[in-house]
Amino acid sequence: MKQPRGGEACPSRGVRAVGVCQRFGRRVKFAIRAGRVQGFLCTSAWWGWVYLGERVPGVVYCSMGKRIASGGAGVVRGPGPGRGQGSGDGGALFARGHLLQLAGLSAKELRAILGRARVFAGHDADGSDDPKAWRERLRGKVVANLFFEDSTRTRVSFAVAAERLGAQVINLTSVGSSISKGETVADTALNVAAMGVDGIVMRHKSSGAPHLVVRTLAERAHSYDDAGRVCSVINAGDGRHEHPTQGLLDIYTIAERFDRLDGFDLSGLTVGIVGDIASSRVARSGIVGLGALGAKVVCIGPPTLVPRSIEAMGCKTTHDLDGVIGKLDAVNVLRIQFERHDGGGGGGEKMPGASNAVASVREYYEVYGLNSARLAKLRPGAIVMHPGPINRGVEMSSEAADSGQSMVLRQVRHGVAVRMAVLEMCLNASAQGR
Ligand code: NCD
Repeated sequence: MKQPRGGEACPSRGVRAVGVCQRFGRRVKFAIRAGRVQGFLCTSAWWGWVYLGERVPGVVYCSMGKRIASGGAGVVRGPGPGRGQGSGDGGALFARGHLLQLAGLSAKELRAILGRARVFAGHDADGSDDPKAWRERLRGKVVANLFFEDSTRTRVSFAVAAERLGAQVINLTSVGSSISKGETVADTALNVAAMGVDGIVMRHKSSGAPHLVVRTLAERAHSYDDAGRVCSVINAGDGRHEHPTQGLLDIYTIAERFDRLDGFDLSGLTVGIVGDIASSRVARSGIVGLGALGAKVVCIGPPTLVPRSIEAMGCKTTHDLDGVIGKLDAVNVLRIQFERHDGGGGGGEKMPGASNAVASVREYYEVYGLNSARLAKLRPGAIVMHPGPINRGVEMSSEAADSGQSMVLRQVRHGVAVRMAVLEMCLNASAQGR
């Protein structure tokens, strides 16, 4: 069995049993405490260790949202009291007021979020929702941005989104908080929740950290809230696992460009995700979300960064960018996430080049960089995307990043609308239980 990677905490202790995912045949380890399954760890090579929390009490799921049938005797507890029954427009996802991943969400649930984002983006058909009333949607609520990892776009975008809805935003980062004194993510979240915040938006380098926080908040709810209420938790990127709001804003950008805002049906479109798929939470949310809405997804890059096993999520893989680029409607280019690679020893920041997965950045750019020659091979009307931050000259040229086909800044713009939708739906769902 694989051990947790350096620097990536195993979020659940006491692994006791091994089971098999019914659908994909993947081995998983279960954490059992007090005779009950508390969660499980996927041991696939490309995933690292991922804590996969519960969705429905009594049922354990694998990361792709399928039930685990064997090896999982026991009950996974729900998040505890304090949750409402959902807003009606968000379905099961928002019944608990959390957004931890896109895996497991239905197309209907994804469309509910995207449809609401369309209103906030000013793209709704009838314009009946008055923007002046938006500030009332979350008035009096407090959103805490807990960013244990660097961020520019996501953090600012969540803050702008929350403020546009009338919420107050508190920003907490590792530097300047007690995280730098060794406080755990769970303790930090518990303390913030005890102050009565309504939502926690969190980013962490460990896959599964937000799931762990939800569990901890639920288990300890009665120690910090008289009614045992649990605030909303929204995942702003956890390790190599998922970045659900990035996945949603990428989908929104594709839908806008290809005139699919009515119904967000992406069938007939092929989306290429190029680069460091193995380390990318953006890729995983994209594969799941795009696939659920009908798009074909192909992951492209060198074998060290694009393992075939990712196909189990429902995408195709190829190592031949030039062979496939002319067939793509959208090409989403990813940064090489050196800081998440082995090589160079130890954890912490890694400089470009300090990686066993990419021998030479120059060679990578020659074979997989989106340069002018490849830009010219794209279909007319095809779009170029990147979640940012862009390393110009590594994964794409400046010409590609700044071209007319580039949707990079539209992605950022749509990020605010998507996050407004997610905050509104999650916080109002949790408020129903208050
Ligand atoms: C991504 C992230 O942090 O996962 N960026 C983002 O949120 N806009 C991608 C990356 O870091 O390369």
